[in-house]
Amino acid sequence: MTSTPPSIIAIDGPAASGKSTVGEAVSQRLGFLYFDTGAMYRAVTQAALARGIPIADEAAVGELAATIHIDVMAPTVDDGRQYTVLIDGEDVTWALRTAVVDANVSAVSAYPAVRTALTRQQRRIAAQGRVVMVGRDIGTVVVPEAPLKIYLDASPEERAHRRWLELQQRGQDADPEAILTAMRARDAYDSTRKTAPLRAASDAIIIDTDGMSGGQVVDEVMRLAERFEG
Ligand code: CDP
Repeated sequence: MTSTPPSIIAIDGPAASGKSTVGEAVSQRLGFLYFDTGAMYRAVTQAALARGIPIADEAAVGELAATIHIDVMAPTVDDGRQYTVLIDGEDVTWALRTAVVDANVSAVSAYPAVRTALTRQQRRIAAQGRVVMVGRDIGTVVVPEAPLKIYLDASPEERAHRRWLELQQRGQDADPEAILTAMRARDAYDSTRKTAPLRAASDAIIIDTDGMSGGQVVDEVMRLAERFEG
């Protein structure tokens, strides 16, 4: 019996639930494109901050999302990045990971005009197939027709600890309590917004990753992907 993996794997979940680690590993094993939609919301946020556009100015931020050019591509520098992000040609990859972007990205991503602009681009990428797409609304809004939808979850404490470890590995000191507080705020914002809130699709497979290693989660997603028959 031969089996082919589903051509699109949607992975959603709250902050630091393991989407990027698992998404990248699964895409490598399958030879698929890995696409992190969070980078696009972060890019709009970073562009607004850099240009002095007030985050509260919904019309201006929406206009910005519709006009800037965001490229997410294979890493152009070997410095531990998963991918390179360009805004109108400028490399902003690491600027997307700052605390100020973390603090503002949920407000930006709640704006319907921002979501419309980015969802359109994400659908274009998904339509090419052979992609593992990660985010908050991939299974519910961006590609609800994806044959395999995964929702990764973990307790806030576990997720905050993972994010803290990530920052440590990058040589950034951070206060674990502050990370937990900021993460809870972002999750609450993302889950309660009107447009495309964070939630599992009704047909998503929910994996509670508390106590699981990254490798175990990858194996579980691969097992699910390989169950698809071609
Ligand atoms: O890596 P982490 O889970 O902390 O964040 P991310 O995936 O980079 O997403 C950053 C923010 O972008 C989220 O908190 C959401 O507000 C927003 N986002 C979204 O609204 N929809 C998506 N498909 C992806 C991200």
